[in-house]
Amino acid sequence: MKILVTGASGLIGTQLCKHLLSKGHTLHILTTRTPWQVENEQTQIFRWAPKNNDIDDKALEGVEAVINLAGAKINQRWTTKSKAAILKSRTESTRLLFEIIQKTQNKVHIINASAIGIYRSNLNKQYTETDKVFSDAFDGVVVRQWEEEAKQFEKLSCLTTILRIGLVLSNVGGVFIPLSTPTRWGLGTWFGNGQQWQSWIHIDDLVGVIDYCLQHQLVGCVNATAPNPVRQRNLVRVIAKVAGAPQFLPGLPKVVLSFFLGEMHKLLFDSIYAKPQKLLKSSYQYKYSDITSCVTDLIH
Ligand SMILES: NC(=O)c1ccc[n+]([C@@H]2O[C@H](COP(=O)([O-])OP(=O)(O)OC[C@H]3O[C@@H](n4cnc5c(N)ncnc54)[C@H](OP(=O)(O)O)[C@@H]3O)[C@@H](O)[C@H]2O)c1
Repeated sequence: MKILVTGASGLIGTQLCKHLLSKGHTLHILTTRTPWQVENEQTQIFRWAPKNNDIDDKALEGVEAVINLAGAKINQRWTTKSKAAILKSRTESTRLLFEIIQKTQNKVHIINASAIGIYRSNLNKQYTETDKVFSDAFDGVVVRQWEEEAKQFEKLSCLTTILRIGLVLSNVGGVFIPLSTPTRWGLGTWFGNGQQWQSWIHIDDLVGVIDYCLQHQLVGCVNATAPNPVRQRNLVRVIAKVAGAPQFLPGLPKVVLSFFLGEMHKLLFDSIYAKPQKLLKSSYQYKYSDITSCVTDLIH
C-alpha cells in the first residue's frame, strides 16, 4: 500500500515509518523541513507549509492511506504565540489535507492523531470513546477543534479514524526519559499527590494499533491507550522497582511546577482514565497491557 505520513520525523512517526517499511509499504512523507535524502527506494519526501497553505500535490498521487501526525509540541511553555502555533499547526494542516483530498477526489483511509486530553480531567471517571465530557482547558479545546477538522473527511466518504492517543512511552523520546532518568538515580518523584490517572501506551503498541486500524479499517474515535492505566505515583514506583532504585522523595507541589512551567503544568496534574473500549472489543493483541511489562521492556 502507498501511505502518506505527516509528522514522520517525530517520536511516533519515526517508529511508525520503520514499521510500515518493514511490512513492504511504500511511503510518501510530507514534511515542513527541508527534504532529506533517503536510503531506501520505498520512500519519497515532499514538502508542505500548512501555515502558507502550501503543499506539493504530487504527495497524494496513488496514495491509499494518510496518517496525519503533524503538530507543534504541546509540552512547551504556553504563551499567546505558542498557543496559536499549537492549535494552528494541527487545524490548518488537517484542513489543508482535506482540501487537497477533496480536490483530487482520492478516497483515502485517513488516520488522524488526536489525544486523550479531549476528556475532562477527573480522578474517578473512566472514559470510553462514547463519552462526551470534554475538557474546556486549552489543550482540550485544541484537541476538539482538531477532531472537528478531521471529521470533515467523513463528508468525502473517506474511511476516517481518529486516534485519541494516550501518553506514549518510549525509550528514544517523549516523557519516559525525563521521568525515568532521575528515578533510576533514586530521585524519582510524582506530581502533587500522584493520584492522577495516566493512560499510557507503549510505542510498539501504538504503532501496532495504527497498523491494525489500517488493516481492519477500524474507524471513528479510538482510544489508543493500554487497557490498564496507572496512577502517576504507581508509575514512578514501578520504574524505581524495575530499575532497582530506591524511591523516597515526596511528590512535587503544584505551586513549584506552576512557577517553573506556567499554565502548561496542568498537563502533569490532569487525571484521565481512557479505556480503549473499541480496541478491547477488536481482535487487536496488545504486546504490553500492564505497566510493569512496559517499563521492564523500556528499561532493559
Ligand atoms: N507523544 C505523545 O505522548 C502523544 C500523545 C497524544 C497525542 N500525540 C499527538 O500525536 C502527534 C505525533 O506525536 P509525536 O510525539 O510523534 O510528536 P512530535 O515528536 O512532536 O512530532 C510531531 C511532528 O509534527 C511536525 N510538525 C511540527 N511542527 C509543525 C507545524 N508547525 N506544522 C506542521 N507540522 C509540524 C514535525 O514533523 P516535520 O518536521 O517532518 O514536519 C514533527 O516531527 C502529535 O500531533 C501529538 O500531539 C502525541
